[in-house]
Amino acid sequence: MSVLPILKWPDPRLAETCVPVPEVTPEIERLAADMLETLYDAPGRGLAAPQVGVMQRIFVMDVGWKEGKSDPIVCINPMLQEVSEERATQTEGCLSIPGVSAEVTRPARAQMVWTGLNGGRYVQSFEGFAAACVQHELDHLDGVVTFDHLDAETRAILIGKYESQ
Ligand code: NI
Repeated sequence: MSVLPILKWPDPRLAETCVPVPEVTPEIERLAADMLETLYDAPGRGLAAPQVGVMQRIFVMDVGWKEGKSDPIVCINPMLQEVSEERATQTEGCLSIPGVSAEVTRPARAQMVWTGLNGGRYVQSFEGFAAACVQHELDHLDGVVTFDHLDAETRAILIGKYESQ
């Protein structure tokens, strides 16, 4: 396994839409292992393939590991099945936008379906920070970052802060 370099915004690859993973191959297994190692090294809670320059629909997530509740998941070709009407605002960081976090409002709960490394199909409902995290990582697969959720004024302020670091 190896720690992969993480692309930083505004790398144009972070604005691209990723293609589906055609099948789970040993290369995909290695990519997932490397992405998890990269996630823990960063350290972060979620990492999507385009952030390491792989333009395929896969992300890794482990929301609780920093609190000793490690539960890593590898999500291949993930899709939202259902989201709540209720919305919630979370403070979201991004490993591709280091040093700047943004208040992002999204559906409070989300049900996601995905393929696991074993080829099995998974369905799970997420709430709280985990709901924001899965939606944040799904965004990356469609070329969307936290800045894209903000109003023009807030976006300009945060980009200014990011660029002046
Ligand atoms: Ni991110």
